[in-house]
Amino acid sequence: IPSSVNLVEEINRLRKEKNAVILAHYYQESEIQEIADYIGDSLGLSQKAAETDADMIVFAGVHFMAETAKILNPNKKVVLPDFNAGCSLAESCPPEEFEKFVKQHPDHVVVTYINCSAGIKALSDIVCTSSNAKKIIDSIPEDKPIIFAPDKNLGRYLIKETGRDMLLWDGSCIVHEAFSIDKLLELHKENPDATIIAHPESESHILKTASYIGSTSGLINFVKNDENNKYIVATEAGILHEMQKEVPEKILIPAPSNEDNTCACSECGFMKMNTLQKLYVCMKYETPEVNINESLRLKSLKPIERMLELSK
Ligand code: 13P
Ligand code: SF4
Repeated sequence: IPSSVNLVEEINRLRKEKNAVILAHYYQESEIQEIADYIGDSLGLSQKAAETDADMIVFAGVHFMAETAKILNPNKKVVLPDFNAGCSLAESCPPEEFEKFVKQHPDHVVVTYINCSAGIKALSDIVCTSSNAKKIIDSIPEDKPIIFAPDKNLGRYLIKETGRDMLLWDGSCIVHEAFSIDKLLELHKENPDATIIAHPESESHILKTASYIGSTSGLINFVKNDENNKYIVATEAGILHEMQKEVPEKILIPAPSNEDNTCACSECGFMKMNTLQKLYVCMKYETPEVNINESLRLKSLKPIERMLELSK
């Protein structure tokens, strides 16, 4: 791309010309969040994807999110800036192995976290996100045993929250498993007035320290409505952009990671594969495009629609 190209102007022009909508997750680079028509958590993004009248959905997030948008919109073009933007949770659950697992427990209701491939959704009874997981599990009759996949950390948290005994798949998010409990406790000692808040994909020892646990939008709302002025935030650091905009006067500290990386916090390498340049290129050339075979689409649509119905 020649340096004379003004990416923001060009993206705005293409958005109008192609009647496109740009949906972005809170973990995206700040400049992508700034240009998006809508930023949100996984539930909000799928609700927006379900109701848009745009001709092209530009999904600034990871592959399973764009795929969910395509499942809901077979006649719209869905593109994402980088086709390799995957997710460790989605990868931890291959459909062939999961199918065997489900077949071993035929009496179980299969609840899957939206962070999974269409192949897994097609094997599910209902999909959930971290915003609505408790509600969805509570809607399942008490006498029905449950399989929950693919996130074991969210699963364990939900077992505690709902009192339901669930069979868990052994998947996890590399970003939320990278938090260091020792560094977190040290940081809290240095900032005893800070409230720790965490995403439920984090491990149980991290969740134990948190005063509030919720999805990305849940965390932002909590900080907005809570009275304290200082927070340690245990989720992907991209959330701090929108959170800080909502509470400019408050102090937000990202929870420390085990790894010695430049931000000292935890960032999702998949989410960060998307850049403003790639966003421009994918809007201009309408590629890479997400496509899905129709029989798989119909199978994976049902559990998503059930979730959307229960989340109204
Ligand atoms: P939510 O934004 O739905 O909380 O999900 C977090 C996440 O890890 C998305 O990949
Ligand atoms: Fe997947 Fe974790 Fe990245 Fe979310 S933060 S996309 S769950 S790897």
